[in-house]
Amino acid sequence: MKPKIKRIGILTGGGDCPGLNAVIRGVTKPAHDYGISVIGILDGFEGLVERKSIELYNKDVSGILASGGTILGSSNKGDPFHWPEESGGKVKIVDRSKDALKNYEGWGLDALVAIGGDGTMNIAHKMSLMGMNIVGVPKTIDNDLEATDLTFGHDSAVYVVAEALDRLHTTASAHHRVMVCEVMGRYAGWIALNGGIAGGADIILIPEIPFNWNTVYEKVLQRNMRGKRFSIVCVAEGAKPKNGSLVTKAKDLKRTDPIQLGGIGEYVAKMISDNTGLETRTTVLGHLQRGGSPTPFDRILSTKFGTNAIQLVMKRQFGRMVALKGSEIKSVRIADAISKQKLVSPKDSTVLTARAVGVSFGSENL
Ligand code: F6P
Repeated sequence: MKPKIKRIGILTGGGDCPGLNAVIRGVTKPAHDYGISVIGILDGFEGLVERKSIELYNKDVSGILASGGTILGSSNKGDPFHWPEESGGKVKIVDRSKDALKNYEGWGLDALVAIGGDGTMNIAHKMSLMGMNIVGVPKTIDNDLEATDLTFGHDSAVYVVAEALDRLHTTASAHHRVMVCEVMGRYAGWIALNGGIAGGADIILIPEIPFNWNTVYEKVLQRNMRGKRFSIVCVAEGAKPKNGSLVTKAKDLKRTDPIQLGGIGEYVAKMISDNTGLETRTTVLGHLQRGGSPTPFDRILSTKFGTNAIQLVMKRQFGRMVALKGSEIKSVRIADAISKQKLVSPKDSTVLTARAVGVSFGSENL
């Protein structure tokens, strides 16, 4: 007979994202109904290494469905296999995975639910190879995780972008300006693509389709000639011109991904202004896209992910991640989820839809 699950841990890793609390609630409530106690590990994998945790009771997860952030705290610097140790002003990277395993065993955990994006799933995979019983839940506003049709948090970020573009339209049209809006997404263009379509952008620039400066200038000038004396440009932080490179803000070796992107919006606005003579302005949405309450869609998806994650634990299907496939929640191997990044294909039906309504991607075929 399989050993009974009595105690599980749960953690939220990487950047925060709307819906994390809804997942924690979706795991914890049914777990208690099964008589399982739940340990909330604080600040992602950092808490697993440094032994920081709280016991989660029903009262702790009651009323958190609609709240943003995470009641457990999160970190994108706590990779146990890539642990930054500072001494004498220098950062040394060490492996503290054995400490993480020791704490998992010390807490008497039968399983660990890891909620996070590709960084968290990579760590989760390596931890399961060390013997931990792990179930993953795919989170990220970027939607760049393979093996699930959607990650939770993406819809909420897209909602923020759409609303921002709606607002930018009014000033753009009143002042006859080109408004450039820089959005997040790291090396994937999903937020810019979906947010751009929802907000009626005229130009969407994404990492997967390197753009041509002249095509961008032509598009805004053509619009002006047709009497549309304003344009809305939605640019992903990871977008770059053909033969150009990523625009970055900082590098921090302590982070799982050391590169901090940012600045392409300002660059695009200046180039458009210098080369067309049109007045331009830039808005960087930044962390507004990650904060606040999840959309109803994300609340539902997060709740489904959470309740299905505890089912995987009960069935002892470890090393797996819950995933959305069509309208069904299934499970996939974590190893498959991290095999590659999910990027926008230039032939994706959403790209073709945008092109069909006249959106330019700054590429040859407009
Ligand atoms: O992965 C989510 C995300 O918001 C990316 O879109 C963005 O590039 C990055 O995190 C920003 O991270 P931080 O908040 O650590 O600057």
